[in-house]
Amino acid sequence: MFSQSFNHSSSSFSLDPSTHNAELSQRAFRSVSDFRKAKLNGRKISMLSVYDAVFARLAVESGVNTLLVGDSVAMALYGFESTIHATVEMIASHSAAVRRACPSIFLVADLPFGSYRRGVKAAMKAVETLARAGASAVKLEGVSGNEKIISHIVESGIPVMGHIGLTPQSVLTLGGYKVQGVTEAAAARLIEDAKKLEDLGAFSLVLECVSRSLRISSHPSRLTIPVIGIGAGAEVDGQVLVASDLLGLSPGPSPRFVRKYLDGAALVSKAFEEFFRQVDRAEYPSEAESYA
Ligand code: KIV
Repeated sequence: MFSQSFNHSSSSFSLDPSTHNAELSQRAFRSVSDFRKAKLNGRKISMLSVYDAVFARLAVESGVNTLLVGDSVAMALYGFESTIHATVEMIASHSAAVRRACPSIFLVADLPFGSYRRGVKAAMKAVETLARAGASAVKLEGVSGNEKIISHIVESGIPVMGHIGLTPQSVLTLGGYKVQGVTEAAAARLIEDAKKLEDLGAFSLVLECVSRSLRISSHPSRLTIPVIGIGAGAEVDGQVLVASDLLGLSPGPSPRFVRKYLDGAALVSKAFEEFFRQVDRAEYPSEAESYA
């Protein structure tokens, strides 16, 4: 797949795909200390939301730092209108698939809607299910009302990633997928929430859909945990996107922050059309594709 040739000081060489992929695979984080080191050294963190073994393996071989099995799976793969429909079983099953393909990467799994608002015992049951499915950490949305649960999960030995700004599980209360932290008071609340997450023991946080002027990670409150942005501008410690969004596979209009690195939908449709056309014309399979 990777056979790019370079001209370098009058000699040309090509990258061996196996070495190239092996080198890039080394970028995969193994533990929370890799997040700390990246923040300390000013190295940006890349995270990708994936749900299956195929894309997880490709992401690791392409140099991703960390993977997330996000509750966006409910929309991207199951066709629901919001992430509210994700369940613990759904996230656990997809986490297990990703873990089988990538045995050692630091894998974050989303705690879905409702799973951590029915008390500590119910939340811990969900955390246990996800950890046993292969998650290295869990992510949960919001801070207010979740303090006890976050502390409990952290004290139990499972790392917690926070998620503030636009929290899609609260889309009904937020009145849609809108930019958050717009007023001064709302921006101050977000900075307060970020600091609270750090104090509660979260090892990092996702900041979604806020003005880039917020500058949470370099705020004078000196947040020491890395902030991974999605629609939060460049002044954060890393970026996360949903794989199907960046591959151009998601239907409908994309939010402003999504950069499509591929017109995946068009490419897939073209391949499908070609197969169906060839079947129709009896052009597939050839003799070489048939058993003697
Ligand atoms: O569900 C998800 O994929 C996420 C990312 C977009 C951060 O939460």
